[in-house]
Amino acid sequence: SAMLVHTRSVIYLNDGELADIRPDGVQVFSADSVEIRKAQQEIDWDITSAEKNGYEHYMLKEIFEQPSTIENSIRGRIIEDTGNAKLGGLEKVKSELRRVEKMKIVACGTARHAGLVGQYLFEELAGIATEVDYASEFRYRKSVWDDRSAVLAISQSGETADTLAAIREANEKGVITLGITNAVGSTLSRETSAGVYNHIGPEISVASSKAFTSQLAILVLMAVNFGRMRQLSLIEGRNILQEVHNIPDKIQKILQQNDHIRDIASRYRDYSNFGFLGRKYNYPIAIEGALKLKEISYIHSEGYPSGELKHGSIALIDPEFPSMFIAPNDSVYDKNISNMEEIASRKGRIIAVATEGNEEITRIADDVIYIPDTLECLTPLLTAIPMQLFAYHVAALKGLDIDQPRNLAKSVTVE
Ligand code: M6R
Repeated sequence: SAMLVHTRSVIYLNDGELADIRPDGVQVFSADSVEIRKAQQEIDWDITSAEKNGYEHYMLKEIFEQPSTIENSIRGRIIEDTGNAKLGGLEKVKSELRRVEKMKIVACGTARHAGLVGQYLFEELAGIATEVDYASEFRYRKSVWDDRSAVLAISQSGETADTLAAIREANEKGVITLGITNAVGSTLSRETSAGVYNHIGPEISVASSKAFTSQLAILVLMAVNFGRMRQLSLIEGRNILQEVHNIPDKIQKILQQNDHIRDIASRYRDYSNFGFLGRKYNYPIAIEGALKLKEISYIHSEGYPSGELKHGSIALIDPEFPSMFIAPNDSVYDKNISNMEEIASRKGRIIAVATEGNEEITRIADDVIYIPDTLECLTPLLTAIPMQLFAYHVAALKGLDIDQPRNLAKSVTVE
């Protein structure tokens, strides 16, 4: 982004390569000092996508961009006739992908949370046994591979050191490596066997928002694609993909509740601790909500699968420990309601994220943020939005440096 005001033409250097740049030209040398020819590439991001466009912070701008960034991530990739997704970047490894039985997803932070949603998607839609690992832990484990394993790395920047280390290890073992990244020409895109780009323009805010929902959308497309090679019927595939088309409008409806969410944030901004709870597809959204709040507002927050509550963390609940509870109309709704009642009976305050039309929940929760109805496997694309807006408004009301929170960097390029 910093270069966009000067040029959009770039030459990517690999580790150890050297460029001699003079007014009349550039020479590039390999690590052993041999001159090499490198192709010049064009960056298609424009400068306005790296500006705030009247928003107070990049994070708010990026949250509000999501209806269009999701459109960009899915454009041309949905084939309704065949109930399938077309991901051009994966075509060259199509036959290998048919054979994959085990998927390991590696990523860090928010990207790992997207990977956790991917685990539910890949297992449910494609029947592929999926594990998700912190990239920083993966490299120190003795992973067990066979010729039917694949590794999928998710990284907005494509430059996170831990994620790259995981990919390099998998490459050394001869395992097929896939990537999802937003950065064309990034190290991740160059070092994986095949991959998919997000196409969402630069994400400037340190706290990731639009990259996360784009990663979720691409994981849905991948899961449908892998599913259609295996167990997913044309009707099921088409049903999911038709609803993916509706997601941008549904996100827009949630964004229209911005003032309501700011109002809720103003009533919870002074708490020192916060719990985030969800189950199944929305367990990863709970931990993402907790990460968003802690990284920009510095409020201690914990995300849990709601079924785990009674195994320990319920001991924390009292009037000073509020919870954000994600409970859309889905297959685990009744379980969530009974967990919510356990919190309410201990006088813990509750903000619920629920599906439009659910009146019942107002009897248990203190505050409710509604999302439009959608398929269960797509709910994370909607429930993520209130998490982002809530964290944003709490931090903004506290007057904190939202786009550059203390101690954090946008891309962590060291171990
Ligand atoms: O560029 P990456 O997606 O690899 O970055 C991974 C994490 O460092 C990143 O998601 C981080 O957790 C964000 N600050 C979260 O908002």
